[in-house]
Amino acid sequence: MLRLPGLIDIHVHLREPGATHKEDWDSGTASALAGGVTMVLAMPNTKPPIFDAETFAACLQSASAKARCDYAQYVGAGPGNAAAAAALAPQAAALKMYLDMTFGQLRLDDMALWMPHFAQYPAEYPIVAHSESRSMAAAILFAALYDRPVHIAHISLREEVLLIKAARQRGIPVTCEVCPHHLFLSQDGALAGYGNGEPLTGGRQEVRPRLATITDVQALWENLDMIDCFATDHAPHTLAEKDSSNPPPGFPGLETALPLLLTAVHDGRLTLDQVVEKYHTNPRRIFHLPEQPETWVEVDETARYELRAGEMHSRCGWTPFEGWPVRGRIRKVVLRGKDAFADGIVTAPPGYGKNVRG
Ligand code: DOR
Ligand code: ZN
Repeated sequence: MLRLPGLIDIHVHLREPGATHKEDWDSGTASALAGGVTMVLAMPNTKPPIFDAETFAACLQSASAKARCDYAQYVGAGPGNAAAAAALAPQAAALKMYLDMTFGQLRLDDMALWMPHFAQYPAEYPIVAHSESRSMAAAILFAALYDRPVHIAHISLREEVLLIKAARQRGIPVTCEVCPHHLFLSQDGALAGYGNGEPLTGGRQEVRPRLATITDVQALWENLDMIDCFATDHAPHTLAEKDSSNPPPGFPGLETALPLLLTAVHDGRLTLDQVVEKYHTNPRRIFHLPEQPETWVEVDETARYELRAGEMHSRCGWTPFEGWPVRGRIRKVVLRGKDAFADGIVTAPPGYGKNVRG
């Protein structure tokens, strides 16, 4: 049996408030534990978005009653809330800025609106940017101009990883994450050697950033050294919504990330040390997260099976990796000294999870 530290997923959408038919603090944190994730950082693009003291407090109230794993909540950057967001910094996971089109209302188009956030949000916490391609270049310029850390969410393109490399060589404080779906899926189907032979179709392919070319996917694998974190961007939408005429973008990911990564370890694409570094150590360091004492994940590395949404805990009811053969089954998760998940069953009750910024 392999023993890993509790995984920390810095990019998770829990949909509460506003869309609890997709997920809530209970189902989303159950999904986390079933995936070996003992701490989630929850995104602010809920309905309403989390952007001031009032919305933040209401969200934390649900979290404290319902979360099964540990957590922190992001505050979202809006057009007029730089001071309010900065005041919440010690209680927040970090500041999230949406600089490109995606799901939800939070978006900052005009770079003049970025400035007060960069000026006021305390530099001991990163600003996390949803920024693709050239808006990513702009976010890196802001990191340099304001000399403060910026973390780029879900990089997906060759040009992005190459630019991050160039920025780091010049000492610009930029870090980044990649999602498993951008490592294992391209716009033309699964990475060679993976998958169930059936491509995603219709609304099920919709995700932001979009699935990229196989050249982009290969560039991410070739530059893994430049990638600080694995994060799922767990973005649950129901299957009915995904198959509708107006499908929202997003994939669930909490229960598929570790088995996919362990399969890649088996295949020699990745080392176990890199999994621990990018899914535990670096997230802790970049976001200044506390240690979770007596917390670990037990994995049967030799187990071979197929991923099935029917066995998962997310409320969304589907996975883009349905039927994929994988290696490495999570047998047990221990969180702060108590069994939280064992042999397919989440045993940590709602309310067991702690706010790590509380
Ligand atoms: O595909 C996505 N879904 N990308 C995002 O940036 C947001 C997310 C969501 O909230 O559904
Ligand atoms: Zn996201």
